[in-house]
Amino acid sequence: MLRPLIPVISVLALAACGNGSGEGGTGSQASAQAETPAPVQQTVEETASPAAEESPASAVLSLDGADLANGARQYRRCQSCHTLAEGGRHTIGPNLHGVIGAPAAGQSDFAYSPRLRESGLVWDLETLNAWIENPRALVPQNRMSFVGLRNAEDRRDVIAYIAQETGATFDETDE
Ligand code: HEC
Repeated sequence: MLRPLIPVISVLALAACGNGSGEGGTGSQASAQAETPAPVQQTVEETASPAAEESPASAVLSLDGADLANGARQYRRCQSCHTLAEGGRHTIGPNLHGVIGAPAAGQSDFAYSPRLRESGLVWDLETLNAWIENPRALVPQNRMSFVGLRNAEDRRDVIAYIAQETGATFDETDE
């Protein structure tokens, strides 16, 4: 409630001092804020979005700048349990072709854990990221015995690699 008043008060104070010429920029900015709320909101959004991009959590939720060579390296850790090729066999884990965008435990011919079946998850960027970081935290008592990739860039890269290898795309505007 008080915030919009402060610039107005400072404008009045400046006017009272008769020091309008030197501080003209501040004065006109303050009165613009007081009179037209819409540009103020824009300013807030503009300053908010770069800050959001810098936060680690949201940095993960974009494949921008992914290093596919590192993704391939990281994927070796998945390879002992998963195949990626279309029509590839299920091994210890299910074949991962087409997993991006699919509901969790979506393949009828793999014996998933009840927990993963009941999770109701869909494998989008956010859920895959959380799963690869720590499968047990996302779905307790699931059967993927994988400690997780703690490094956000490794996760981004391996997801980008899987997407590339399976021809999948993410609709990132929906995230
Ligand atoms: C030790 C074996 C093992 C490793 C290593 C492993 N997984 Fe898995 N993965 C599994 C098993 C088993 C399941 C099924 C889990 C269940 O049913 O609870 C699974 C499930 C999944 C699913 C869900 C599939 C579906 O159809 O819902 C994804 C996605 C996945 N793994 C990705 C990965 C990725 C990416 C890596 C490497 C970073 C990885 N996994 C490493 C064994 C493994």
